[in-house]
Amino acid sequence: MFSLAHLSELHLGPLPAGAAARHFRLKRTIGAVNWRLNRHRVHSPAVAHAIAADIVTSAPDHVALTGDIVNVAAHAEFETAGRWMADFGDPSWISFVPGNHDTYVRVDWRHGLSHLAAYMQGDMRVALTQVSAQIETPFPYVRLRRNVALIGVSSAVPQPLHRACGEVGRTQLESLAFLLGDLRERGYARIVMIHHPPLPGLAKPRKALTDAPLLKAVLETHGAELVLHGHNHEPMENKLNSRFGMVFVMGVPSASLVETAHHPAAAWNLYRIQRLGGRWTIDVTSRSFDPLTRRVATRAEFTLSP
Ligand SMILES: [Fe+2]
Ligand SMILES: [Fe+2]
Repeated sequence: MFSLAHLSELHLGPLPAGAAARHFRLKRTIGAVNWRLNRHRVHSPAVAHAIAADIVTSAPDHVALTGDIVNVAAHAEFETAGRWMADFGDPSWISFVPGNHDTYVRVDWRHGLSHLAAYMQGDMRVALTQVSAQIETPFPYVRLRRNVALIGVSSAVPQPLHRACGEVGRTQLESLAFLLGDLRERGYARIVMIHHPPLPGLAKPRKALTDAPLLKAVLETHGAELVLHGHNHEPMENKLNSRFGMVFVMGVPSASLVETAHHPAAAWNLYRIQRLGGRWTIDVTSRSFDPLTRRVATRAEFTLSP
């Protein structure tokens, strides 16, 4: 049995002083104003800390963190995020994929996501990968842990003002298709980690994965045991019929969110993955932050079933 924690959308605050003024970008300035007017009220560092502490206490075999660790991609935010992650856990224990807020504006690798490089490094050779000026670790990456393969896919691409879309791109899609087939033949449970919801229609057009139809086709053709995503800041459960059985597509709320009228409080999911009677069985425990007691408690327990 392999246990995997999934959290997303830390949106770590507070925003560093002068975050928007240094290395000026209009989108970042507007984002910073929005943070100071609204978002700082709903994303609480104390809640993020409580969620992380609850995961550490649960001691899962591995942790998946599916992006949006920062807010406006200010250089100082990445330094803070790097320190926060070092406190959270070892890079070999946590796998990270970036979200749209982690490439909110163009920031070169050195001042940005390099602070999280160790959390995005695979341990299996992948023949076909992409790198960019913002993300110099090759994607997709694969980490093999016992009979589970964790596949990190990046959908983070800088977007114009007022857009929060994502794109996987042809290189990663082609590579993913090969990896899903290869890892299935080698007997691994395949877990794909991606920031944006991977199927068409799961996010508003302004925030959606632009090549979701192509990703859906790859998943239908090659199968996967589980796809973990974030981005929508709400719990989501979807499934997709593939040639190799049901693909469960699961989203978590933001791990720092104080409950609001529009979004549920912070939560994380614990997956227990095991091979029983020749098939993969996945049990889920969903734990969420209770604003009244300020504690994290089990909200639901269920088994993913076709
Ligand atoms: Fe987010
Ligand atoms: Fe996002």
